[in-house]
Amino acid sequence: MTKATPEHVPVLLDETLTALNIRPKGLYIDGTFGRGGHARAILERLSSKGQILGLDKDPEAFMEGQSLAAKDERFTIEQCSFATLSNVVQTRSWQGKVDGILLDIGVSSPQLDIAERGFSFRKDGPLDMRMNPDEGISAADWLAYASMDEITTVIKTFGEERFGKRIARAIVETREDSPLRTTKQLADLVDKASPFREKNKHPATRTFQAIRIYINNELDDLSVALQQAIDVMAIGGRLTVISFHSLEDRIVKRFFRDQAKGDNLPAHFPITADQLNPSIKLIGKAIKAGEQELADNPRSRSAVLRVVEKVK
Ligand SMILES: C[S@@+](CC[C@H](N)C(=O)[O-])C[C@H]1O[C@@H](n2cnc3c(N)ncnc32)[C@H](O)[C@@H]1O
Repeated sequence: MTKATPEHVPVLLDETLTALNIRPKGLYIDGTFGRGGHARAILERLSSKGQILGLDKDPEAFMEGQSLAAKDERFTIEQCSFATLSNVVQTRSWQGKVDGILLDIGVSSPQLDIAERGFSFRKDGPLDMRMNPDEGISAADWLAYASMDEITTVIKTFGEERFGKRIARAIVETREDSPLRTTKQLADLVDKASPFREKNKHPATRTFQAIRIYINNELDDLSVALQQAIDVMAIGGRLTVISFHSLEDRIVKRFFRDQAKGDNLPAHFPITADQLNPSIKLIGKAIKAGEQELADNPRSRSAVLRVVEKVK
């Protein structure tokens, strides 16, 4: 079993390492460096010729990556979205040479644990939620001007929250008196606006997820990155994606299924499956955490790992 870093326990670590089918001299990209749990474990499996490029939007993740880069010349990091993967790869002349890519999407434990980042309804902090606080607008600023319809759509679509309209109305009514500036204000407001409680789930869970996804453009970035990831890999390269909720997993699953099928020709078109030019093949089924990991790390509960290999 590979050892984890203290701040963030990487999920499905052994499964991801196996899925990446690591070549010691290979070129790898960790598109979501976080605290480097996965990246460090990949580094352990590389020879002196192998390399990993880490990406993360988050300034603290970037700093952690810089300190790793200072110690290990096989590792480099850039602070950017994984949606810019193609550009980053082109700048390094890695186009068509990448042997494996990992996207472990969503938020990291430190982002949730540090109240000042504003991601958590369990800790009181400024209502920010930006993975890169120097880019885009904070949740508080967005909630201060967005229309009720916009807020409803976000909460319903990205939170799958059926009380989205009630919650949005409560937000708009509240902000007329005083602006929503803290995570606690929003969590309390959602709590009050929710007609009933789900067992073991804070009523604000879905709303916080929704606003975070919207503020960070998470689903669009994911869709863009999946195609770029396939494009930049070498034949035989492996793409591994860990997602944490059904919206993300649906995007990954559909994209992989469509790419593995190849050209979208009418049914009964007289050609074989091979002639449909699939760019990838699926490697196994969706992988979830085993009993031991579930017991050791509650974050692994909703993690789903999907793996594909580039074939063309
Ligand atoms: C679940 S954590 C990754 C943890 C990491 N695998 C580890 O073992 O430490 C997700 C990370 O992805 C980053 N992230 C999320 N969306 C991103 C994006 N579009 N581009 C770059 N980084 C992103 C977050 O800032 C966060 O640090």
